[in-house]
Amino acid sequence: MPAVKRGGTVAVTGAAGFIGGWAVRRLLERGYRVRACVRNVDDDRRTGFLKAMPGYASGRLTLHAADLDTPGCFDPIFAGCHGVLHISHVSSYDDHAYVRRTCDHIIASINKSATVARVVVTSSIAAVISEVDISELERRPVCYEDRYPDEQNPKRTPERGQGYSMGKVIAERAFAEAAEANGTWDSITCCPADNVGPIQSAHQKDMGPWQHIIEGMLTGKYFQTGAYRPWIVVDVRDDADCHVGLLESIKVKNGERYIAWSTETRKVEDICASIDRLLPELRHAAPEVTDPFPDRIKAREAELRKVWAGIELRNDRMLSVVPITFRPMDESIRDCVESLISVAGVTVQRRANDA
Ligand SMILES: NC(=O)c1ccc[n+]([C@@H]2O[C@H](COP(=O)([O-])OP(=O)(O)OC[C@H]3O[C@@H](n4cnc5c(N)ncnc54)[C@H](OP(=O)(O)O)[C@@H]3O)[C@@H](O)[C@H]2O)c1
Repeated sequence: MPAVKRGGTVAVTGAAGFIGGWAVRRLLERGYRVRACVRNVDDDRRTGFLKAMPGYASGRLTLHAADLDTPGCFDPIFAGCHGVLHISHVSSYDDHAYVRRTCDHIIASINKSATVARVVVTSSIAAVISEVDISELERRPVCYEDRYPDEQNPKRTPERGQGYSMGKVIAERAFAEAAEANGTWDSITCCPADNVGPIQSAHQKDMGPWQHIIEGMLTGKYFQTGAYRPWIVVDVRDDADCHVGLLESIKVKNGERYIAWSTETRKVEDICASIDRLLPELRHAAPEVTDPFPDRIKAREAELRKVWAGIELRNDRMLSVVPITFRPMDESIRDCVESLISVAGVTVQRRANDA
């Protein structure tokens, strides 16, 4: 199947979001025409940063109202598009019949367009590494594209916190099967890791978990994450570049998935400590981490940390199809902090005698 031609027209779902916003910017920088899909075009708190992009002034970037819960809403938007970056969240990941319905109506709009050649579907590393039984990560510690969470485990249910990773796998397969059946477009999955990096609009500080946790570090309270799982990161700008790269790549094939991560990891406490090291001018008063886990999890802290320390992250496959050099995590943390202050007006808790 052809890659999307440079300068073609690309629709982006979730365009007002953290990753979607960067994908829009990157596409414009690379010469594409972009149709940014948002739920409310007139909500300038969420869409103002898109309207401030130079491409909007010329009309190369246009904004379109689309709610994934409204079948058919993408018909007029995808008509004439060459590519789609389907980055948006859905309203629920736990209701898998609903997840499937949202896929089906987006797929119907792609098929109707008769112009879309490639769709990049945003999944998650949760669909690679999220295990209901963490010992599965000891059994299969090499984390790469062919690794899926243990789907045979009967405890793998939304009730046990697996709705998100299960919903993502359902969506990946729905798009790949539909593309195969249609034969005129292909579907490539991108599985991003924990996105860290600069926000472009104040509302994004409350989205994604990661930038919100860094805001907490700046303002005096933050929490231990994911049963002592270290952050496994990708810079949001690199993630956007991976999405665009997959759209353009002539090496990828329908149904393939590519993980977007730098392979760098860091404990949440060390991320907090990084702020003062990277930006001593801030005189950040680093708070202690709050551990919200129940006692049964706390009792397993050493064991859980050991499992996470033992996994091996691979990004060979992404590097083989997309020209990308992943940024070091320090750069992502620094730029996230600076954007939280400059874009969202976050007030930093400083050391007492420096106020
Ligand atoms: N952030 C991460 O670390 C991370 C890691 C792995 C995977 N991902 C995946 O990457 C994607 C984007 O994540 P993000 O962090 O950029 O999220 P985000 O900042 O919360 O943005 C998600 C966007 O999804 C849109 N959305 C939500 N429900 C919708 C619906 N029913 N109809 C239409 N639009 C809807 C929202 O649109 P409006 O603003 O227009 O309301 C929002 O801007 C998601 O699929 C997520 O699962 C993220």
